[in-house]
Amino acid sequence: MNAAAPAPAAAVRVRNVQAGDLGDVAAIDLEITRVPKPEYWAEIYHRYGTGRRQQRFFLVAEAAGRIEGFVIGEVRDWEFGSPRCGWVFAINVRPKARLAGIGSRLLGAICEGFRHLGVIKVRTLLGRDNQLILSFFRSQGMMAAPFIPLEIDLEPQGTDGK
Ligand SMILES: CC(C)(COP(=O)(O)OP(=O)(O)OC[C@H]1O[C@@H](n2cnc3c(N)ncnc32)[C@H](O)[C@@H]1OP(=O)(O)O)[C@@H](O)C(=O)NCCC(=O)NCCS
Repeated sequence: MNAAAPAPAAAVRVRNVQAGDLGDVAAIDLEITRVPKPEYWAEIYHRYGTGRRQQRFFLVAEAAGRIEGFVIGEVRDWEFGSPRCGWVFAINVRPKARLAGIGSRLLGAICEGFRHLGVIKVRTLLGRDNQLILSFFRSQGMMAAPFIPLEIDLEPQGTDGK
């Protein structure tokens, strides 16, 4: 088998993140975003990957001892006035491992975790111009939600005389 070929989804194991996975997770993120953020990943691991996870999920897809992708999310109750639902904050698959079903496995696994907690609605937020992630989520059956994201630019602290 060609070592560079993506692992078929069947050869991939989806499990909870462990401390030793963080290097691979940060490397996948760096390959995609080009922004190194080691402190951020340490904090996310602390918040979503350790202790009594309760409603929080940080799952990785492992193949042949290497992390090929990850998904992070959480069950939230009554935020934005909405009954309990599962939020997917991040999903990333190593570029060379894509289109082999790993993203689908990761999303399926986190949805299964949500379902165990009684969740029947899953939501996410994505950039309008990110066609790739839009195509992926649409392929998984996700559709536009009845919400409108709003934002405002704030003056940085110290520039408004306060
Ligand atoms: C989106 C992503 C997670 C998909 O992972 P993946 O392992 O390639 O996904 P799958 O192989 O399970 O693909 C499932 C379906 O998604 C759709 N899809 C995936 N990649 C696609 C692409 N490049 N173009 C169009 N559709 C695509 C297809 O419908 C595909 O089904 P098919 O292979 O039967 O056609 C991966 O491309 C990724 O990490 N992209 C960057 C993510 C990102 O921008 N994250 C930042 C926001 S959190």
